[in-house]
Amino acid sequence: MKIIITGGAGFIGSHVVRRFVNTYPQYQIINLDKLTYAGNLANLKDIEDRPNYTFVKGDITDGPFIETLFEREQPDAVIHLAAESHVDRSISNPLDFVLTNVVGTVNLLNAARSHWKGEGSKRFYHVSTDEVYGALGETGMFTEETKYDPHSPYSASKAGSDHFVRAYHDTYGLNTVISNCSNNYGSHHFPEKLIPLAIHNIKNNKPVPVYGKGENIRDWLWVEDHARAIDIIFHQAKAGDTYNIGGHNEWKNIDLINLLCSIMDRKLGRAEGESAKLITFVKDRAGHDLRYAIDSTKLQQELGWVPSLQFEEGLEKTVDWYLTNEDWLENVTSGAYQDYYKKQYSYR
Ligand code: NAD
Ligand code: DAU
Repeated sequence: MKIIITGGAGFIGSHVVRRFVNTYPQYQIINLDKLTYAGNLANLKDIEDRPNYTFVKGDITDGPFIETLFEREQPDAVIHLAAESHVDRSISNPLDFVLTNVVGTVNLLNAARSHWKGEGSKRFYHVSTDEVYGALGETGMFTEETKYDPHSPYSASKAGSDHFVRAYHDTYGLNTVISNCSNNYGSHHFPEKLIPLAIHNIKNNKPVPVYGKGENIRDWLWVEDHARAIDIIFHQAKAGDTYNIGGHNEWKNIDLINLLCSIMDRKLGRAEGESAKLITFVKDRAGHDLRYAIDSTKLQQELGWVPSLQFEEGLEKTVDWYLTNEDWLENVTSGAYQDYYKKQYSYR
């Protein structure tokens, strides 16, 4: 089987590519990635020489290029992760999100439709987010039946892409599957997102920006558990189906940051409470969703997936990875990152 994995040089994509290359030596894995600021081939150093792995640099917004790639490679499946993924960037630049997340997805769907000609065995797996469901109050959880109610340009663009994927199943009979996952954490996470940004700033004795009062709640999942869920769903789901993936692991942002600060104190040999002094409450994110919580009962009961790692253990492993991979962190935080950081945080 030949699988195109899009966005394989990004955070989650690199874990998915690594898992498929290592677990299925009989599959050919093509990593299709534009290498935006978030794409980094250093994420895949350990598997780049494997005979069942190929990297193709390309942009999913370029329809003719995608057609040519399908013609040349004749893939049997697509696992689609390429996206603009950061909510704050979507607030300052929504159009990039429409182009990559909506138009890019439709380009891939069109190529799959025209090249696979209704062959039911060929699967289009779309990786999506819990943010399409909107925001929860103090109680309740998102299930696969929850109505879409996106609030940010990012989640609106992911919701749009999900709708297109379902439409291609219902209209053209494409063998599609969608999963909607909660917040991932782990190694190779770009430091624009809360956890790696906080690790980087604590390490460098810089303010740790917490939006609003830090009361927003996210459900955190170890990225390798997400990659394993994708593997299981890819191989076992029925055509047209949807699965929610989550950690049953809700944390208020401020509690998470305090936990991270105490781990960092220990790892850096600082006095307890030292890193927490860096916590700085800053202007809230516009349209900030209060709470996400995923009910992954369907995935657990039908396909037997359960998260493997306790959050404290996963967070500790994550901190260890960043502290032993200083070069990776220094490389991605030089250059354009500095401009982004100044723009994003100076006004707050
Ligand atoms: P990321 O930003 O780390 O990586 C995105 C990758 O896509 C990068 O390698 C980038 O170069 C590539 N890319 C971007 N635009 C492209 C284009 N036009 N053509 C080709 N490649 C392009 O993102 P991530 O956090 O790894 O998220 C991956 C997917 O999982 C996304 O679809 C995202 O919506 C979804 N998701 C993420 C999370 C999370 O917590 N990070 C949770 C649920 C779902
Ligand atoms: O829920 C899944 C989603 O999780 C994915 O679809 C997105 O691609 C991914 O980026 C993530 O979105 P969030 O907006 O939840 O993640 P982020 O790390 O940006 O923020 C997590 C929480 O922390 C959120 O409530 C905003 C807050 N935050 C974030 C940053 C970057 C801060 O308080 N300070 C910060 O500096």
